[in-house]
Amino acid sequence: MQRSELVADIAVRRGFYWPSFEIYGGVGGFYDYGPLGTLTRRNIVEKWRRTFILPYQDIMIEIETPVIMPEAVFEASGHLEHFTDYVVTCQKCGRKFRTDHLIEDVLSQKGIRLSLEGLSGEQLDEIIARYDIRCPACGGPLGKSERFNLLFKTNIGPYANEYGYLRPETAQGMFVAFPRLADYMGRKVPFGVAQIGRVGRNEISPRQGLIRLREFSQMEIELFFDPQNPHCPYFAEVEDMEVPIVPEEEVARGNTEPQFLTAREIVARGHANEWMAFFMALSAKFLKELGVPLERQKFLGKLPQERAHYSAKSYDQMVLTERFGWVEVSGHAYRTDYDLSRHSKYSGHEMYLERRLKEAREIEEVRVYPNPNALRERYGDRIGEVIKAIQKNSQTIAASFSSGAERVEVEGYEITRDMVFLKREVRRTDVEKFIPHVVEPSFGLDRILYVVLESAAVVEDDRKYLRLPPDIAPITACILPIVKRRDYVAIGVDLARRLWRAGITALYDDEGTIGSRYAECDEIGTPIAVTIDEMTPKDNTVTIRDRDSRRQIRIDIGKVVDFAVGIKAGGSFDEISRRLGGVVFKNA
Ligand code: ATP
Ligand code: GLY
Repeated sequence: MQRSELVADIAVRRGFYWPSFEIYGGVGGFYDYGPLGTLTRRNIVEKWRRTFILPYQDIMIEIETPVIMPEAVFEASGHLEHFTDYVVTCQKCGRKFRTDHLIEDVLSQKGIRLSLEGLSGEQLDEIIARYDIRCPACGGPLGKSERFNLLFKTNIGPYANEYGYLRPETAQGMFVAFPRLADYMGRKVPFGVAQIGRVGRNEISPRQGLIRLREFSQMEIELFFDPQNPHCPYFAEVEDMEVPIVPEEEVARGNTEPQFLTAREIVARGHANEWMAFFMALSAKFLKELGVPLERQKFLGKLPQERAHYSAKSYDQMVLTERFGWVEVSGHAYRTDYDLSRHSKYSGHEMYLERRLKEAREIEEVRVYPNPNALRERYGDRIGEVIKAIQKNSQTIAASFSSGAERVEVEGYEITRDMVFLKREVRRTDVEKFIPHVVEPSFGLDRILYVVLESAAVVEDDRKYLRLPPDIAPITACILPIVKRRDYVAIGVDLARRLWRAGITALYDDEGTIGSRYAECDEIGTPIAVTIDEMTPKDNTVTIRDRDSRRQIRIDIGKVVDFAVGIKAGGSFDEISRRLGGVVFKNA
């Protein structure tokens, strides 16, 4: 049995995840998370927050924004135009395939590997013709590749022309709310905004279980900083950490083997700025603590044609899996001021901050003064609000009219040329405006869950189980009376309830042999099993068994909650046992 087979079996049988809508035949790309999957995912999210957010609360904040967003957002973000994949249709049976995936699948069977990312439809069609690739279902000929937009579209309210889209990334919610977030953070950078939530992508051919879903969860951070000062105040914490990286130049040479560089070296060699290197180092540590050693990770540089439309530099954090080969678990992009500038332009709201100049200087600028008569004529009593909007967006208005526009919309008000006076003025200032730049680490929770389970799977001759990190395991403790005797049951149920009240997930089980119950606890990755036996009613002690070593200690029942809390916090079995006075009972 392979490790991935064990995961596939445990996932469904023990309630981690399974295909959604099974009673209706299922729909590709949608999965339910069962009780154990839900708990495991929550633990991964909490670990992510403990790694990226909680230690940096002076600069990191979290928000939640809607999953459905109006069309204007995705027009500005570029997703309506660029968020596409190529789809090819069989001329005989009408089946549709994502062109690059189809080519990859067919060629990999012939032992041929080509890099297809960023190729145009014509280039993909040429490869199809060159290798005579046909429909894998019926052998029919394939048509021309067409672009297919991956956004899920819906209507907002009862109006046929008010379109909404399911967000394909949580990021846009953070860009759109930037003016309020900047105010909250005192209009000072750097600061990071994180969001954890569901996203939707209408993938053409979802496959590989949790790896390519149509609805999934992301954990993202948009880190806003001044491009003149890309210094990360926490860089010293990570600078000596090793990161397996394949820099862009190596990728361009066809090399995909990682070099192990420290975060400091990554910056010094110009492979990334401090913020990117900071997040890459933390991400490598995060995955390592989730059970993926550095040797099975790499940060693969993306060539310009392979990057998302908003990115000036990108690395994909890849993990080597047994089942699917290298899988991208997080994307690291330098989004520059792309999103804020676009939203500023499309919404008419300025999205800038101010930086102090080293020396005051004189600047010539076009000042905008409202023309009350023209404004009152058009806006009557609302003139006060309109004047405020004009003052807030004076740069946009000045720039638009200076470049010949006749009208401009700000904050929903149409401003025509006659409604303002433009005056060229010279003034002294010690600040200047700038649009912050953004570095973004973006994690896919579902892929990480798969990677964690596969990495934890242990297939040995006499046991098969999940060696999950204790802070990630869905259940921390199993409570097992050695036999189902009334007094043992009462003690066991009471202990389980004490653990639950202390916020520890625990399973109580008194059915079957103790050996089979240990195996069932191990199978779902439970780090400790507590047994109530013949000594318990006499001296108030229980045994606690370590999942990995199968060693058992005997300890006072009153210390079990503390023991479990210590295990959940990541402590080692032996150290906690020593600290709480456990006595070795059985050595495996
Ligand atoms: P891929 O190249 O595999 O399609 P991507 O480059 O489109 O992924 P990003 O847009 O960078 O992915 O999204 C950020 C993260 O979201 C990815 O690193 C991945 O973990 C996750 N992700 C993206 N698409 C999916 C999907 N269809 N199903 C599950 N997770 C996904
Ligand atoms: N926010 C990065 C992505 O989902 O594409």
